[in-house]
Amino acid sequence: MKYSKIIGTGSYLPENILTNAELEKRVNTTEQWIIERTGIHTRHIAAENQGTCDMAEQAALRALEMANCQAQDIELIIVATTTPDRIYPSTACLLQERLNNPGSAAFDIQAACTGFIYALSVADKFIRTGQVKRALVLGAETYSRLVDWNDRRTCVLFGDGAGAVVLETSDDPGILSTHLHADGRYKDLLYISGTLAQGKIQNGDGFTKMEGQEVFKFAVNALSKVVGEALEANHLSKTDIDWLVPHQANIRIIGATAKKLKLPMEKVVLTVSQHGNTSAASVPLALDTAVRDGRIQRGQKLLLEAIGAGFTWGAGLVVF
Ligand code: UT7
Repeated sequence: MKYSKIIGTGSYLPENILTNAELEKRVNTTEQWIIERTGIHTRHIAAENQGTCDMAEQAALRALEMANCQAQDIELIIVATTTPDRIYPSTACLLQERLNNPGSAAFDIQAACTGFIYALSVADKFIRTGQVKRALVLGAETYSRLVDWNDRRTCVLFGDGAGAVVLETSDDPGILSTHLHADGRYKDLLYISGTLAQGKIQNGDGFTKMEGQEVFKFAVNALSKVVGEALEANHLSKTDIDWLVPHQANIRIIGATAKKLKLPMEKVVLTVSQHGNTSAASVPLALDTAVRDGRIQRGQKLLLEAIGAGFTWGAGLVVF
């Protein structure tokens, strides 16, 4: 049986760091509130002239370098993003041009914060069915552009960045399974209303609206279930997991999932404190951080999970 194996990871964070102290000056909030309720201390914000593809390119180059692989060896590029640089062509096509890799398949996936798990799942199917040998999968977001900087309920939460993995066909276990879900009945709990028509944003605006508490409750429940589903599908028990690599939205949501898995927080990759919520970029950013600092080792079992607008949610069990 063929597997897709992660042979390289990479990430990129913009230079500009926004602190809680700076946010205190912008909106009616306190450092203490932000840290206690979310665990976030800082987030990175893209420069004005920096786009999603710019960050994706840097993350991709780092992942390709670790994989010891040329861009031209890649047959499929999937970018998970909620913040494409253009309505079309896709950010994946823009990235493909930058990487000088014409001819490969390239498309975006939009599943909000769950986008990377969705993209990983799709790329895994392409590899397992033998259609491609190597794929580049990214989560990349300039989410700061979808945030109303006068809305304290949302502006303290989000940040920008990009993460990437290179997948390759392998006889050794890699991605064991992925589990994707969505429930569109929750479309009004986390959304952006605007539509582009006649050259203008119509039917609302371009800012994130969120019913935080409702999202929180749903997230804790859905993530607990989906990580259980991933373990069960692979006949694994909680103690078999070496690392939880969760979506980094809120330290309290992550803590609840770790508790359900009976994993001590030392076995959870946490970047929320420095990155904030980078939407689809958060899981690959966290993965790359822990791979590069030596915590995640070859052969270890990783449980990836995320939840986002839709609602969408999912998990992936991976032998690294
Ligand atoms: O990535 C996609 C998925 N997204 C998530 O997973 C986010 C899920 N939700 C959350 O993480 C949390 O619900 C939040 C961090 C967004 C909010 O935390 P909370 O503990 O649920 O707070 P809350 O919304 O219940 O608000 C509590 C109070 C309210 O004041 P009152 O009504 O009690 O007087 C808010 O107005 O905190 C107030 N508040 C703030 N105060 C200071 C809301 N935002 C702020 C703020 N600073 N930035």
